This record gives sequence, C-alpha cells and structure tokens, in this order.
Amino acid sequence: MEARYPSESLTVLTDLVLPGETNPLNNLFGGELLARMDRAAGISAGRHSRRIVVTASVNHVAFNKSVPLGSVVTVEAKVSRAFRTSMEVVIDVWVEDRQSGEKTKANEAIYTFVAVNETGTPVSVPPIKPQTELEKKRFDAALRRKQLSLVLAGKMKPDDATELKALFVAQENK
Ligand SMILES: CC(C)(COP(=O)(O)OP(=O)(O)OC[C@H]1O[C@@H](n2cnc3c(N)ncnc32)[C@H](O)[C@@H]1OP(=O)(O)O)[C@@H](O)C(=O)NCCC(=O)NCCS
Repeated sequence: MEARYPSESLTVLTDLVLPGETNPLNNLFGGELLARMDRAAGISAGRHSRRIVVTASVNHVAFNKSVPLGSVVTVEAKVSRAFRTSMEVVIDVWVEDRQSGEKTKANEAIYTFVAVNETGTPVSVPPIKPQTELEKKRFDAALRRKQLSLVLAGKMKPDDATELKALFVAQENK
C-alpha cells in the first residue's frame, strides 16, 4: 500500500456552542466536545485508510480551557501515525474570538481508530510519511503512546512495551 501524508487526513470542523450543549456555568459540556473530537478524528482516520473506522481508545484528553456559550469552536484532526490496522489521530481544539477573530488553543486529545471490514474485522491501513517537524515529533511519540494504551487496557505486558520503558530509563539516567 502506498504511503500517505498526514496532511491528506486533515479534517477541520467548525461549529458554534449552543445553549443545549453547555454545563450550569454556561461553558461547553465536556461530553459534547468529546463527541465533536470523535467525529472529526473518525473522518480523519477514514480519509487516511479509506475504510470503515471505529474508535478503539481515547488515549489522552486535556480540557485546558473552558469554552463559553456562543463561541466558535474549530476541531482539527490529523492522523499522526498508522500502524498495522490502527491509526493514532491527534486533535487540536481552537476557540475563536468573535471580535478579533484571533484563535486560541483550548484543548487537545489523542484518539486511536481501527480500520475494519463490513464484519468488523480489523484490516490493514496504508503507512504514513510525516513531513513537518511537528508531524515527525508526533509520529515518533505515537509508538510509546500505543504501548501505554495497550498496557493500560491489559492487552500488552509491561515488559513488552520496550519503547515506553526506554523513555523511563532515559529519564532515570538524566
Ligand atoms: C477496536 C477493535 C476493532 C479491536 O479489535 P481487537 O479484536 O482488539 O483487534 P486486534 O487485537 O487485532 O487489534 C486491532 C488493532 O487495534 C489496536 N488496539 C486495540 N485496542 C487498543 C487500545 N486500547 N489502544 C490502542 N490500540 C489498540 C491493536 O494494537 C491493533 O493495532 P495494530 O493492528 O495497528 O497493531 C474492537 O475492540 C472493536 O470493535 N471495538 C468496538 C469499537 C467501537 O464500537 N467503538 C465505538 C465505541 S461506542
């Protein structure tokens, strides 16, 4: 299968925060943002693989800033690394100031999707070729994150998570 670039999977969803989507403080409800991120990331993984994709895990979510009612929210998703059947998707969330138009990064997340056939069996996906410095950095770190996710899910023995262990050993030796 021919390799694809992360930019080919870029997915950008822009939408408002409406009254039915907020918590009692009139800020965007976390579950609503998770759903928007899942949708954008799913489209992104589908663009990379050109297959049906399912969310396998949510590896990391940081709600760094609240998003007030009426905000214009942009969710940007891009595949950072493709493995055999799974893909890591990095999502950045931006909030736009209505008056200045300036965008501030509010949140980020990392989801894992698996490409499947019509019966739900995992199928292979094309490899990915990172181009920018940020894409290369995210590509390199993705294997460690995959190992951590599998260890936490009880699908990999900690001893087999070699790249993840190497990170801790490197920290100890500093
Ligand atoms: C995701 C799913 C297809 C994985 O099936 P599985 O039987 O575990 O398949 P495998 O063991 O072959 O794993 C498939 C890939 O997923 C990866 N994977 C599975 N669980 C993972 C996890 N928790 N974190 C990261 N990667 C994971 C595996 O490492 C493997 O990746 P690779 O082929 O790129 O190396 C299956 O669990 C499923 O269908 N889950 C439900 C998905 C769904 O409905 N999501 C919406 C929730 S409402």
